[in-house]
Amino acid sequence: MMVRTSLAACIALGLLANGAPLASDKCDRDALLAAADKYVDAQIAGSLDAIQDILDKNFTYQENNKVMAVEDGVISLPLVIDHKRSTADTTDCATYTELVSSKGSKPYVIGTQVRHDPETMAITMIDSVAATTGAWLFDAAKTLSYVLQEDDAWTIIPEDKRDTRELLKQAGDAYMDLWSNATAEAAVPWGTPCVRLEGSAYTGKGSPSDSCAVGTPSNHNQAPNSHRRYVIDEAMGTCSILCVWEHMMMAADSHEFRLENGKLRYVHTITVCPGQTCRL
Ligand SMILES: *[C@@H]1O[C@H](CO)[C@@H](O)[C@H](O)[C@H]1NC(C)=O
Ligand SMILES: *[C@@H]1O[C@H](CO)[C@@H](O)[C@H](O)[C@H]1NC(C)=O
Repeated sequence: MMVRTSLAACIALGLLANGAPLASDKCDRDALLAAADKYVDAQIAGSLDAIQDILDKNFTYQENNKVMAVEDGVISLPLVIDHKRSTADTTDCATYTELVSSKGSKPYVIGTQVRHDPETMAITMIDSVAATTGAWLFDAAKTLSYVLQEDDAWTIIPEDKRDTRELLKQAGDAYMDLWSNATAEAAVPWGTPCVRLEGSAYTGKGSPSDSCAVGTPSNHNQAPNSHRRYVIDEAMGTCSILCVWEHMMMAADSHEFRLENGKLRYVHTITVCPGQTCRL
C-alpha cells in the first residue's frame, strides 16, 4: 500500500524513480485544445470568466508585444468569431489560435499563443497579435474568405508523415531570417504549391506552381525579426512565431507556417503597428 501510494505521488509530481522529470501528461493535445477553446469563449464574451478557473493567479496578458492590463486588451471586447483554428504544442505546453472577426463594428484578425504551467495546466500567459483597421494589409472579410477557402487543407497529418519539431522550427526560423541573413533563403524548405496569406493579401493563384518565394526580401541587411516566441505542433505540421518586426516600424508580428512532407506549403501573417499605420 505504501509503495503504491508513493509511486502514485511520484507520478503526480512528474518524477521518475531516479528523479528525472517526465514530460507532463497533463499537456496532452486534447487538454491543450480544450483550453484554447475556452480562451476563444473568453474572447467571444469579452470576459475572462470562461478561463478564470484555469488562469494562473500571476498570469501575464500581452498584446502586440506589450504587457498590459486585461481591461485594456482586445480580450475585454466581445467579438463575433467567424473563424478559429488552434494548434497545440505538447512539448512547451502551449497553443496557438488564429481568430477572424469580420462582422463587428471593429473587425479583428488575432493570433494568440496561450502558455500553460506544465504541472498545473494553469494559463501563465496570453500573448496576442491583434490586428484591426490600419494594420498591415488589413481586411478581415477578405482574410476570412481565403482562410475558409483553405480550411480543408489544414488537416491533421498522419503519424508516419509528420515532420520533426526541429525541422518545423528550423523552417520557421529560416523564413524569419530572410530579412537579416543572406544564407537563409537557401535554408527554407520551399514547397510547391505554396501560398502566403499576409493580412488580406493572397499570393495563391490556384496554380500547381504557386510559390511562397515570390517577393521575399532581396535586401538581407535589414533589422531582424526578434523576440521570437514559438508554438510548434507536429500533428498539424505547424510552427507559429510571434516576434518584433524590427525592419517595419518595430511592428508586432505573427507568422504561422504549415509544412507537409518536409516542405513549406502555407504561410499566414498578422502584422500590427500599434497606434500607427504600418508602412514599409
Ligand atoms: C509574478 O510574476 C512576476 C513577473 O513575472 C514575478 O516577478 C513574481 O515573482 C510573480 N509572483 C508570484 C507569486 O509568482
Ligand atoms: C543564417 O541562416 C543560416 C541558415 O538558416 C543559419 O544557419 C545561420 O545560423 C544564420 N546566421 C545567423 C547569424 O543567424
